[in-house]
Amino acid sequence: MSARILDGKELATRVRARITDDVARLRAEHDVVPGLAAVLVGSDPASQVYVGMKHRACEAAGMVSRQIELAEDTSQEDLERVVSELNDDEEIDGILVQLPLPDHLDPQPVQELISLDKDVDALNPYTAGRLAVGDPTFFSCTPYGVLEILADAEIDTAGAEVVIVGRSNLVGRPLSNMLTLKGRDATVTVAHSRTRDLAAVCRRADVLVAAAGSAGLVTADMVREGATVIDVGTNRTDEGKLIGDVDFDGVAEVAGAITPVPGGVGPMTVTMLLQNTLEAARVRRGLPRR
Ligand code: GUN
Repeated sequence: MSARILDGKELATRVRARITDDVARLRAEHDVVPGLAAVLVGSDPASQVYVGMKHRACEAAGMVSRQIELAEDTSQEDLERVVSELNDDEEIDGILVQLPLPDHLDPQPVQELISLDKDVDALNPYTAGRLAVGDPTFFSCTPYGVLEILADAEIDTAGAEVVIVGRSNLVGRPLSNMLTLKGRDATVTVAHSRTRDLAAVCRRADVLVAAAGSAGLVTADMVREGATVIDVGTNRTDEGKLIGDVDFDGVAEVAGAITPVPGGVGPMTVTMLLQNTLEAARVRRGLPRR
């Protein structure tokens, strides 16, 4: 193996220590404790794990964490009522509705309802639109984590060819908008399931981001020698093992730098949710973001 391993877990530990200090200072100086509410509908095992991680990370950073667990058969109206109540709840600075929702529920009206000043998951279409027009409020947590990993590794995106595989609203689309902001200045290609000759497109990349949700999709022949490879995939094998979208062992032979799964982007997603919640708490009280 030749690639440098980009250790998201170690970076997350460092960033969370800084956030914990900032939370303590906010409490001491302004008597403010940031609060996050996470709404989980139903009992999807992966979602339960993710919401549990967010809850523990919040508490460890000294924030208020409220977990709201709703039954699988919750109606659209009841879910929207819960979100409206959180919008009006003074203790809560950030609201997150864990996806995917059960099939009978439509996420879009729920996301549209989340107060813009509490939209720490950045999935309200208005928040996404603000980013799309180059005037962002909150960054979605997973792409934000990707940017932090690149910045910490001193991998400059200005002028770089970045290929993102996957066009989801959670990762691919917002990440492409973030990377083309002034100051980041990447040349971005968003590839997807209908892309012609995916391997050739991927080989153009200085930075290749795999966010398709397809285990082992990215293989060594798709990676240019020395490229940076960021694996956003979270797939489970039949044995329950967590694996990414990248064939790690093969790709690590040709890449210059690579994130592992687990221990890469995942810990940074939770960390950036804490960061957004801290910023929301500050902005809501008229304080500067940092
Ligand atoms: N499901 C998987 N990732 C996410 C995320 O970042 N936010 C929400 N709300 N649901 C998710």
